[in-house]
Amino acid sequence: MFNAFRSTLTCGLLGLSTLVQAQPSEASRRDVADIYASLCANCHGAKMEGALGPSLIDDIWKSGADDEGIARSIREGQPASGMPAFSGALSSQDIRALVIYIREQGAQRRNAAASIAKPVADKAVRSELHAFKLETVTEGLDTPWSVAFLPDGRMLVTEKAGRLRLVEKGRLLPEPIAGTPGVWSRGQGGLLDVAVHPDYAKNGWIYLSYSDAGANGSAMTAIVRGKLRAGRFVEQQTLFRAPPEQYRTGNVHFGSRFVFDGKGHLFFSIGERGKKEDAQELSRPNGKVHRIHDDGRIPEDNPFAGREGAIASIWSYGNRNPQGLARHPVTGELWETEHGPRGGDELNRIEPGRNYGWPVITYGMNYDGTPMTDRTAQEGMQQPVLHWTPSIAVCAADFYTGSRFPQWKNDLFVGALAQQEVRRLRLEGGKVVHQEVLFKDVGRVRDVVSGPDGYLYVAFNGPDRIARLVPAPAIEPASGKAPGAKP
Ligand code: HEC
Repeated sequence: MFNAFRSTLTCGLLGLSTLVQAQPSEASRRDVADIYASLCANCHGAKMEGALGPSLIDDIWKSGADDEGIARSIREGQPASGMPAFSGALSSQDIRALVIYIREQGAQRRNAAASIAKPVADKAVRSELHAFKLETVTEGLDTPWSVAFLPDGRMLVTEKAGRLRLVEKGRLLPEPIAGTPGVWSRGQGGLLDVAVHPDYAKNGWIYLSYSDAGANGSAMTAIVRGKLRAGRFVEQQTLFRAPPEQYRTGNVHFGSRFVFDGKGHLFFSIGERGKKEDAQELSRPNGKVHRIHDDGRIPEDNPFAGREGAIASIWSYGNRNPQGLARHPVTGELWETEHGPRGGDELNRIEPGRNYGWPVITYGMNYDGTPMTDRTAQEGMQQPVLHWTPSIAVCAADFYTGSRFPQWKNDLFVGALAQQEVRRLRLEGGKVVHQEVLFKDVGRVRDVVSGPDGYLYVAFNGPDRIARLVPAPAIEPASGKAPGAKP
C-alpha cells in the first residue's frame, strides 16, 4: 500500500529528483512506516484496519478527529483502555509524521471506495450541480503546461519543452510560434505559463514565464513579454530576470503562474527551487509571489520596496512551489495554490508582505516518510485557508466566470497532477465551505482555465491533450440539482 503511494508520487510532478532531494539529515530519523510497523501495527493492524485497538481508517474518532486530537491520543494514550502513551518514545515530529501517515492511509481507503466519475470521451457525467461532458479540443501536443485565450477565440498553449503553440478553431497549427525564448528544459523546468494582457486588443502583449539557464547548470524562472506577428514572437522585452548569482542548481520547483489585477499590475510566482531556506530570504527571488507593473517596473507601494537587501518585486514569501494563482472575480482577492512536500499542499489567500511559512511551518513531512517539523503554525506566519494532507499535487487554479454552468459561477476549480483530478471549491467569506471532486484518473491535470466562451478548459498530461467541460443537458434534472446533491 505504501509502495503504491510512492509510485504515484514518482510518476507525478514530484518526480524522482524530488525524492532524491529529500535529505535524511539525522541518523536517528526513521521512516514513519517503520515506526508504525514496529510500534502500532500489533494493536491497530498492519493496514490500520483495527485489531486489539480500533481501526484508524474508518473515519470514526473517539478521542478527537482533528490533527491535534489524533496527536494527543498518540502522545498521551488512554492507558486505562489499553492505548499506551508515546510521548516518551516518540518525538513530537515523529508524532506529527504519524498523523500525516494515518491521514494518507484513510484517504487511500476512501479513494478506493469512492465512485468518482472517470469521464469517457463524449459520455455525460453527472456531478453535484451540473452534468457535463469532457470534450477533447486538441491532441498532438507534447506536455502542455498552460492555456490562454486571445480575444478572437484563438488559444495559446505552452509545451514544457519550449514551444508556444496556437490552436485556431480547434485546429492545432503544425508550426510552433517562432522566436520565443530558449528554455532550460529539465525536470520540472521548461516553458511554463502564458498569459494575455487584459487590454490585448489595444496593446497586443503576451506574457511568458520559463526556466532560464544560468552558469554551471543553474537556472531560475524568468518573465518576458512580446507580440505575435505573422507566426513569430516579436518585440520581446524581459520583465523579470534575477541576477546570475541568484540562479540555483536542481530541476525542481520553478512555479509559476501569472495573474493580472486589472489595475495595471502583474503577479507571478516562483517556486523555491528545492532550496527551502530560500523561501524565507527576502534577498532571493525563489519561494515567492511577486508583483510588477505590466511593463516590468516595480510598484513603489510594494511591501518590500525600499527595504535594504530585499527584492522589491516580492509581494509574499514562504511559498514552496506555487503553481496556481487566480483573482477572485468579485472581491479581487488573490488566491494561490502551492505544492507541499508529502502532505501539506496549500490553498492560500495571498496578502502583501505576508509570510506563508515554508519551511518553518508545514502540514507535510519528507518524501521518505521522516518527519520535517511538528510545527504547523507560528506567530507571524499565515495559515493556509485549506491544506490537502495527503497531497493531491495541486497544480492549477481558476475561478469559473462563465455562464454555461450557472451554478458554478465564482467557484474555484483546482487541478491535481498526482491525484489526476479536478476539484470544485465553494468559497464563502474567505473560507472553503464545500469541496467536490468533479472527475479523476483521466490524466494528470496541468492547467484549468475558465474559457471566454463559458466552457472550462483543462490541460492534461498523459495522454497529452486539451479538453473542455461542456454542459450535458440531456441528463440534467429539471431543477438543475442532481439527485443526492449535498446542500
Ligand atoms: C497495546 C495496544 C496498542 C498499541 C501498541 C497502540 N495502540 Fe493506539 N489504541 C489502542 C486502543 C485499545 C485504543 C482505544 C482507546 C480507547 O478506547 O480510548 C487506541 C486508540 C488510538 C487512537 C485514538 C483512536 C480514536 O478513535 O480516537 C489513535 C489515534 C491511536 N490509538 C494511534 C496509535 C498509534 C499511532 C500507535 C503507535 C505509535 C498506537 N496507537 C499504538 C491500542 C494500542
